[in-house]
Amino acid sequence: MNKLCLLGLVVSLASHSAFADTSAAPLQDKQAFIADLIKQMTLDEKIGQLRLISIGPEMPREMIRKEIAAGRIGGTFNSITRAENRPMQDAAAKSRLKIPMFFAYDVIHGHRTIFPISLGLAASWDMDAIAKVGQVSALEAASDGIDMTFAPMVDIARDPRWGRTSEGFGEDTYLVSRISRVMVESFQGQSPAEATSLMAAVKHFALYGAVEGGRDYNTVDMSPSKMFNDYLPPYRAAIDAGAGGVMVALNSINGVPATSNTWLMNDLLRKDWGFKGVTVSDHGAITELVRHGVARDGREAAKLAIKAGIDLSMNDSLYGEELASLLKAGEIDQADIDNAVREVLGAKYDMGLFEDPYRRIGKASDDPADTYADSRLHRAEARDVARRSLVLLENRQQTLPLKKAGTIALVGPLADAPIDMMGSWAAAGRPHQSITVREGMRQVLGDKAKVIYAKGSNVTHDKAILDYLNFLNFDAPEIVDDPRPAAVLIDEAVKAAKQSDVVVAVVGESRGMSHESSSRTTLEIPAAQRELIKALKATGKPLVLVLMNGRPLSLAWEREQADAILETWFSGTEGGNAIADVLFGDYNPSGKLAITFPRSVGQIPMYYNHLSIGRPFTPGKPGNYTSQYFEEPNGPLYPFGYGLSYSDFSLSNLSLSSKTVKQGQDLEASIVVKNTGKRDGETVVQLYLQDVTASMSRPVKELKNFQKVMLKAGEERTLRFTIKADDLKFYNGQLQWAAEPGEFRVQVGLDSQAVQQQSFELL
Ligand code: BGC
Repeated sequence: MNKLCLLGLVVSLASHSAFADTSAAPLQDKQAFIADLIKQMTLDEKIGQLRLISIGPEMPREMIRKEIAAGRIGGTFNSITRAENRPMQDAAAKSRLKIPMFFAYDVIHGHRTIFPISLGLAASWDMDAIAKVGQVSALEAASDGIDMTFAPMVDIARDPRWGRTSEGFGEDTYLVSRISRVMVESFQGQSPAEATSLMAAVKHFALYGAVEGGRDYNTVDMSPSKMFNDYLPPYRAAIDAGAGGVMVALNSINGVPATSNTWLMNDLLRKDWGFKGVTVSDHGAITELVRHGVARDGREAAKLAIKAGIDLSMNDSLYGEELASLLKAGEIDQADIDNAVREVLGAKYDMGLFEDPYRRIGKASDDPADTYADSRLHRAEARDVARRSLVLLENRQQTLPLKKAGTIALVGPLADAPIDMMGSWAAAGRPHQSITVREGMRQVLGDKAKVIYAKGSNVTHDKAILDYLNFLNFDAPEIVDDPRPAAVLIDEAVKAAKQSDVVVAVVGESRGMSHESSSRTTLEIPAAQRELIKALKATGKPLVLVLMNGRPLSLAWEREQADAILETWFSGTEGGNAIADVLFGDYNPSGKLAITFPRSVGQIPMYYNHLSIGRPFTPGKPGNYTSQYFEEPNGPLYPFGYGLSYSDFSLSNLSLSSKTVKQGQDLEASIVVKNTGKRDGETVVQLYLQDVTASMSRPVKELKNFQKVMLKAGEERTLRFTIKADDLKFYNGQLQWAAEPGEFRVQVGLDSQAVQQQSFELL
């Protein structure tokens, strides 16, 4: 054993002896250990364990430490360094039973190194890249003394007006479920007890992405079949992958808030799905039960929440104020409290904290000299993942890739906006460490080409919007507004364009526009930026739009102006380098949309896997009396699964191993994919199924599998997909998960629209 290991053991034994040595049962026996501890706890100590508080200006640190030492806090969130968390853990060591604290944080798409926002990660369709994000995030956060993340966020989003669309992985049940599993597995590693792992608390259970009108915190009304077939599977995937926690949604579901929903929390989550971990309310959600109109007062809210099985109450004082007296009055049972305490202690146990409360905090002497040191970042990983998340939407006359020569005008309010590169929920990321597009171009080009930069416009002209967005960030203004008149900014950009061979305009949304509580009524790029695009177009120079945004935008007009469009989301710490890699051809784009881009806001909701209907719109046929909008072309602007490459790919010879299949049997589909272009590149071959006739109307297609393949120029490969018996099943009208006999169509494409098709019969 080397010196370091020995030291580790001594520290671990020393700290172990300081903590929870009061349980008579051996530490190895989780259930007995916890049961024994619960027996020794006073009612106050039990209720204390259910309290999860935010570290912020609300409560002075000294007061927090006192409360912890008194056994009145179970865990905290929003403190993000070992030095901050250590004194709190020390305070827990002074509490009567020495029950360790745990420390949580919203590590959504990176911790210090910021990766692309989740919607961008999903566009990579690359499970290895996504696993890397989870692993790096866990490693960085754990080495900052954090034990749990409130992630992954797997709310299916089909209404892009919702600002939190940016935070999730898109519209599709299958894709989001796959990612959900990968995220949980990569956050938690071999076990959430490992020093380099985080426990994952999947959110927001349930259906938060379906808030009516895309207006945040609004109600959700949904049929059971849509719920079970489309919206619930991603949460289930996280739980099946072993997620230790579940965060409960703020919304109501068919009239009953999730936070008081005994069907959701007890019947579905615990009984049907067998969830054994800890549940966490969302911020202040127990108090909000009064405003939802289901609780008369705080007392009733606390009662409803504990009865529904909400273990940890996040930033909510009601458990502390009400549970003891509810118990005394016989309105709740001792078991209600004990069950919740058992789950909280169980989570701490699973995070390895009873064995060593300092598992992730470590020793002060090992603390990084500079928490924000660049050497602590994972830049290479961030650049690689970011490149994979970019989606090429248009590329007329091979405008892209650009030559590393001549003069390039770089314009737009987002071309040099470090804070926006990170996107919302950027955890402990620091704007000064993010590479903007301007900086990325500088690094990739060196002195090979000249770049003339001009801001060209502000994000928005609208003072009220600006104020709203700047209010969202307490630390610094989110958007730095250039006080010069719009015309002056545009003139400067036009001048730059005229001196250049090509114009790259970085436009879209500031990050706050795609955030919690940032719902929009339009999906347009703000007018200030559209005026800039118009002026740039008028110069006649080739125009490349680099989009930054956290939701689908309606781009019908922009598509007419631009020669090329690259969708870059909010691409993170290394985003600028990754974008430059794609712009100059050092990386061949391979991303595909994980969400439909509608033509206009009026088409919403628009998602590819809608149910079959009686009067579908049929392109090329008279439109009357079919399902359509008559003022504009029907269908999406860019469909789910769409994305171009600098190469071309073709599909041919779709064939099935059999024309019939028996219940319970698998089937094989094969297809030939060829890189018909001149560059090596990756594409995503997507397999969809349609259950043509069933006891209920079924989706026109549903993604069931995909493969991302790298093909050299000219290379051709046969891909095989196993269509499993379970792929044919769905929740029917009685909510039984079953496959019904009849015709199924297999559709394979490079996006969800242009597909090859074959049929088989389920006997
Ligand atoms: C959000 C959650 C988040 C929590 C803690 C809430 O406002 O809805 O997603 O985990 O805050 O930061």
